[in-house]
Amino acid sequence: MMPTWIQLVFLACGVCFILALKGLSGPRTARNGNLIGAAAAVVACVMPFFWTDLHLRHVPLIIAAIAIGTVGGVYGARTVQMTQMPQMVALFNGVGGGAAALVALLELHEVIETGGDAPWFNLAATAFTIVVGSISFAGSVVTFAKLQELMTSRPVVFPGLRYVFPIAVGAALVLGVRVAIDPHMWIAILLGLLGLLVGALLVLPVGGADVPIVISLLNAFTGLTVAAGGYVLSNVLLLIAGTLVGASGTFLTLLMAGAMGRSVANILFGALKGGSTLGSGEASDRPVRSVTPEDAAIMLGYADRVIVVPGYGLAVAQAQHTLRELVDVLGAKGIQVDYAIHPVAGRMPGHMNVLLAEAQVPYEQLREMDDINGDFKEADVVLVVGANDVVNPAARTTPGAPIYGMPILNADQARQVIFMKRSMRPGFAGIENELLFDERTALLFGDAKDSMGKLLNAVKAL
Ligand code: TAP
Repeated sequence: MMPTWIQLVFLACGVCFILALKGLSGPRTARNGNLIGAAAAVVACVMPFFWTDLHLRHVPLIIAAIAIGTVGGVYGARTVQMTQMPQMVALFNGVGGGAAALVALLELHEVIETGGDAPWFNLAATAFTIVVGSISFAGSVVTFAKLQELMTSRPVVFPGLRYVFPIAVGAALVLGVRVAIDPHMWIAILLGLLGLLVGALLVLPVGGADVPIVISLLNAFTGLTVAAGGYVLSNVLLLIAGTLVGASGTFLTLLMAGAMGRSVANILFGALKGGSTLGSGEASDRPVRSVTPEDAAIMLGYADRVIVVPGYGLAVAQAQHTLRELVDVLGAKGIQVDYAIHPVAGRMPGHMNVLLAEAQVPYEQLREMDDINGDFKEADVVLVVGANDVVNPAARTTPGAPIYGMPILNADQARQVIFMKRSMRPGFAGIENELLFDERTALLFGDAKDSMGKLLNAVKAL
């Protein structure tokens, strides 16, 4: 029986996890929320060492594992580029799911060894943890490989996949029921292996642009696995933490899918029905109007109202600091400037908010899509910095386009549009953007950081 004081500490940790989530829901409070959650996780991890009745075995091995995990985690978190964050989350998430599956296998081994007759519900929760944890592990490894470009990011579909996948899911269900009724180690291991197969088959057909959504879904899976593991181990804190991860992962998945105008089923199984979820990605050779930084500076410097649309390219070029300086200079000239933030701009949820907060852009200047979309028709100039899909009118006009149905920023309603990008290559969805060819559009070609520096100097010189 867990001592009351440890139960109370666990309860406090559970409350901290909830407060952490609350803090993470806004840019001002996110840092503190993160710290509260991390501190509670550390406290929760050291508690077993103080629980003497637990008679922990292999303590040096446990400490060595914690040390390796800590060094790897700190190194990874310090060195990862912001644009590589989704694959890092995938990796951490997969390791969590895999660990939960291994713990469940060990618990089952103990039950079988001691000849214990565990209630069927406990055994069912154990089977669930094994299979869903394995799915999460294998799925996360494949998403990591896709995003890290260790394999193609395009959908991988082979003949027969549409039959192999449901058969594998069905077999996993049958084995799971078998573990709950009559547990044997070999069946549980087979169940884990089937989970790995299902996880890989689930993610392989998903196209690159949709992979971050699948990461969020797998995150929710890991949460449910941990919650079920908490039930098996009679550990309330694991139950709370797992449920929070499961619920927030599910919400995030639905919100991201909604922001891209897609259903989760379409993202997961779209490629199985045939067709790719991405365009060809080829650069267009149609004529466009290109301008120099000096021309663009005149357009900006004599405007009354400017809206900046940041996107993935801004993050790649790390031009956020120079952009903020430019906006400050324009503001000092009496020009009203806002940033229009699309919910899926960049490659991860909140990507632009994090990037611009890092450059000390005041939160009041960041306007969400629904809030600012009505203002574009009054804007003299829209400055699109390394964004493409989030302003592509094909989302409204071209049924069948990978982004069709995705709500977009109304940049096409402004009087003039300046696009900062390096080439005529399309954005992540791989399709052409008609707005680039519009007569009101000017292209300022070059790396965003380089061009932004030149634009800043030209605006200062006006
Ligand atoms: P994208 O449509 O991917 O466009 C990025 C643009 O940046 C490209 O046109 C690229 O053109 C330009 N670029 C790249 N590097 C640059 C550099 N160094 N300097 C200047 N320009 C550069 O970006 P977006 O508009 O932000 O849209 C995001 C896309 O990702 C959407 O399709 C969205 O659905 C998808 N997505 C987002 C998320 C989340 S949660 N944010 C999750 C999954 C998928 P050049 O190559 O010509 O420079």
